[in-house]
Amino acid sequence: MTKAETIDYYAKRSAEYERIYDKPERQNDLEQLRTTLAGMFGGLDLLEIACGTGYWTQCASRSATSIVATDYSEEVLDIAREKEFGDCPVTFVKADAYSLDGVDGPFSAGLVCFWWSHIPNVQIDNFLRVLHSKLAKGATVVVLDNRYVEGSSTPISRTDNEGNSYQTRKLGDGSKYEIVKNFPNEDEFKRRIDAVAEDCSFTTLEYFWLAQYTLAVSAADQGATADGSRRR
Ligand SMILES: C[S@@+](CC[C@H](N)C(=O)[O-])C[C@H]1O[C@@H](n2cnc3c(N)ncnc32)[C@H](O)[C@@H]1O
Repeated sequence: MTKAETIDYYAKRSAEYERIYDKPERQNDLEQLRTTLAGMFGGLDLLEIACGTGYWTQCASRSATSIVATDYSEEVLDIAREKEFGDCPVTFVKADAYSLDGVDGPFSAGLVCFWWSHIPNVQIDNFLRVLHSKLAKGATVVVLDNRYVEGSSTPISRTDNEGNSYQTRKLGDGSKYEIVKNFPNEDEFKRRIDAVAEDCSFTTLEYFWLAQYTLAVSAADQGATADGSRRR
């Protein structure tokens, strides 16, 4: 699936997107995640990537000082803009997660919910370089995504030779899309951020995983770590 097809899929799915959060067996985990996220960003200016309809933006707004929430789809951003965010100023910006053009910085926190799993493995390092370039040294980064659970998750339809797995998703109008959906374990996740992060925690719930780390390098240092060498 191309980047354009992924964007098209989510634009078409915008109206039915949050039904995924209604699955009865996932409610305990979701409650725990909502509570955790609501308390994570005290005093921090947060940049959220691929915010979708703003479900997690709303949780983060309980503690964040401010939020810039980005997504590539105007359809989902329009839904998100209708939500209530209390006293937290939230700005929604259309931006491609792979470039974040038009997004200023540096922010003191980053949030990535249910987007990591859609990034083809070959693109992850580039995505992280772009995200980290918008964050200050010492920023808190939170990443949340699905675990694969037989009987609850959409079955994996195939795996390619770069290690990406795929799911075939059907929308209410009957259209079908094959999307990248990867399910990294703790070691795989930590390997991706090891060179630029410290204090990484990885929490495994029944249906989800939640990672948190501190960005240990500045934007300038990250240019110098493009070869993968450790800078701290
Ligand atoms: C699985 S949804 C997650 C939405 C939201 N974070 C949540 O957890 O409810 C993935 C989101 O990625 C967005 N998206 C897809 N491709 C993108 C890209 N290249 N840049 C930014 N957002 C993108 C879609 O529009 C969609 O809102």
